[in-house]
This record gives sequence, structure tokens and C-alpha cells, in this order.
Amino acid sequence: MLTAISRYGARVLPNTQQIIAECQRRGELVRGPKIKEFEETFARRLGRGRAISASFGRMAFYYILKALGLPPGSEVILPALTFWVVPELARVAGLKPVFADVDPATFNLDPEALERAITPKTRAVVPTHLFGLPCDLDEILSMAHRHSLFVIEDCAHTLGATYRGRPVGTFGDAAFFSFQTLKPLNTYGGGMALVQDSGLAQRVADLAAAEPWPDEKRILGRLRVGRLQRIFTRPGVFTVSAFPILWIASWFKARPDVYLWESIRPLSPLPEEYAEKYSNVQAALGLAGLDSLDQWTELTRAHARLMNETLRDLPGVRIPEVPPDRSHVYYQYCVYVPDRDDLVRRCIRKGIDIETLHVDVCTRLPLFGEACHESPGAEMAATVVQVPVYAGLSDPQVAQIANRVRSVLTRAAQRSISVPRASHQ
Ligand SMILES: Cc1ncc(COP(=O)(O)O)c(C=O)c1O
Repeated sequence: MLTAISRYGARVLPNTQQIIAECQRRGELVRGPKIKEFEETFARRLGRGRAISASFGRMAFYYILKALGLPPGSEVILPALTFWVVPELARVAGLKPVFADVDPATFNLDPEALERAITPKTRAVVPTHLFGLPCDLDEILSMAHRHSLFVIEDCAHTLGATYRGRPVGTFGDAAFFSFQTLKPLNTYGGGMALVQDSGLAQRVADLAAAEPWPDEKRILGRLRVGRLQRIFTRPGVFTVSAFPILWIASWFKARPDVYLWESIRPLSPLPEEYAEKYSNVQAALGLAGLDSLDQWTELTRAHARLMNETLRDLPGVRIPEVPPDRSHVYYQYCVYVPDRDDLVRRCIRKGIDIETLHVDVCTRLPLFGEACHESPGAEMAATVVQVPVYAGLSDPQVAQIANRVRSVLTRAAQRSISVPRASHQ
């Protein structure tokens, strides 16, 4: 029988339940010493700055913006291709998001487009290291320096990646990281700000500290949902649960997966669960997870290498580009193929679940009204497929994915070159 492989796979510590039980036994699910310990260990690992935990990565970003004290209506430049929540929170913070196009080869902010987007009202730029690949930081930092802009790195996808040998998140004035279930470090939600200037860091810490403690029930609920996600993405369970729905949908060109995404909407007032502190049990999981981070990164990279070797010579296929001065952590393995929708449909019928766009072309979202404009780089980047290479896959599973994707692409290429026979009457 066919065993299907899910597009999603969380990084999970084998002793997760033990860590949770230990916090519960001590009465330290919500408050406890692990929060400070995780923040300090995180900052030490990155090598510079002060780390401050938050309920979400997006809230770490929000506190950084608030702590900068920019005049209302100041412009903040973000990449046209990013998760819609980030520019929306800039708007909620009283600022004006402005989008600059991305380079479709790296999916990251194009420095020339950034330069064109700068106006006298620009105060900050948010280089998002998308999908696990660091941005062209030299160019961006020197431009920011010339125009006196604050730099806030979005490292939600990129914990563990380096630019010229130095960890991302340590180049800008501040950075933020996400610990959502599928991110490089999974604590079932949560985030971290990393801030360089001690005064700015204190203001971010004050904002985070002013939030109420989360409800214990909510934290336990979050851990329970994480556990269910883990169970439902296991091949054996996925094959008999979500996979049949995706399989049937593939014959009708339907997209049931869009119902899994966070609905795009204004975020003011901030949803209730945003405004709370990060919990001790999540910090305990993060602290333990840091010890496994390098191993997870290496596994993911090895999977990406195998995918590169299997797909690189196929006509019309463009494997991920990694400039020589950066390291990629392959939060998503994005590849251009000649016919994306055909590949996705044919792969799901062979038991391989492939995701298309994981983030948003923000310049086409009505939510951002006048900030919308043409962004050909982001539009092109939106045509990629994201092939699973996550750390939880075994080597034979990665080989199976790579070979099935290759065989679908090879057959599609053969179909496209076969000349239709002339009819003789
Ligand atoms: C590029 C990017 N930035 C920021 C975030 C926000 O992270 P969080 O969900 O922890 O708020 C995400 C979340 O997926 C993201 O993809």
C-alpha cells in the first residue's frame, strides 16, 4: 500500500513529554526560571545582543517597532514577498508598510528595489531572510547606513544560518525569530527579539514584561495541538487522514489546504492571545531544542543536497541558489519547475504532498491598499514549489520524494517534446 508523506514535519525532541511533565510537577508551566535561562542561552549562542522572549515572533517585531519610538506614519520597507502578518503589524504599530520587490533567484529583498523605495519618510527596513537563506546583507546594511535607517532582520525562517560566517540576526539593530511549530526551533509557538543597543533592548523588555501571563489552560491547549499536528503528519496517520482529501482534491483542481492558513485580516485591535508573555514550559523546550539545532540543520541540509543532485539536470528546473558568502538552512526547499500545478497534482497522486506558496505576495493583497504595486520578482517567486526536505524525514523517504518528483518532471518533459502525429485524410 502507498504510504504518503506530508509537506509538514516539525522538529520534535524525543523527551518533549518528559520536559512538559517536569514543568508541570514543579508548578512551572507558565512562570519559572527557564524563560531567563533560554533568553540568555539564545543570546550567547548568537554571540551578540540581548534576547527577549515574546508570545509570537510577530510580537517580538511589534515590540521592536514600538520601542524604536518612530514618528507615526513613518515608512518601514519590507519585502513584497513575506508573511502578511509582518507588514500588518507595522501598520498596527502606527507605521506605514512600503514594499520593495525581491530577487526571484534568492527570494530575498532586492537591494536595488530597496533603494528605489526609500523616501524622506523612511525610517526602517526589514530584511527577511526568507525560506532559510540570508539576504544580501552587505548591500542592505550599507544602504541603511547611508540613509540612517534602522535595520530589523526577520529571522523567522533562518535560525542557524550564517552570512560571511556570522549568524543572521546579529547584523541589524534588532532581529526577531519565530518558534512556531514548523520553524527551525519549535516551542509550539513563541518568538524572540534580539536587540543590540542596551537602551532599545530594555524598552523592548519593558513592553514584553508589561503583558499579562498566559492562562495555563491556553498553554496546555497549545501543547496538545502541537502533539496532534505531530501525530497527523506521521506518514502512517497522514496516509489515512489528510492525504485522501488532498488526493481527491487533485482530481478536481481544488485547494483544501488554503483552509489551514491564517486568514488575512486587519489585526487591530491585536487578538487577545497576542498580548501575553512567553511561558516557562515553552522556554524549557526551546532551551533543550537549542542543543539539537545543529543536528537538525545538518540533516535538513543533507536532504536538500540529495534533492539538488536528483533534480538539478532536469530541463526547466532551477534548484535553490546559495551565494557563496551565506549558508542556507532550507526552512523551505524552493524549486522552479516548468508546470507547478501539474507537478503538485501528479505528486500527490503518488503520495508526495508538495506545498506551493508558503508566504504572501503582499503587493497584491487588498489589505495593504495603496502599498500595492507591480512586483514582478515576487510574482515570479510565487510560482515555485516547496519540496519537503525537513529534518524528520528518513534518508529513504527523502530519496523516495526526490525520485518521484524527478519521474513526474521527466515524464512531463517527454510529453512536452513529443510532436503530435499529423493526421492523413
Ligand atoms: C517570514 C515570517 N516572518 C514572521 C513570522 C511570524 O512568526 P510568528 O508566527 O511566530 O509570529 C512568520 C511566521 O510564519 C514568517 O513566515
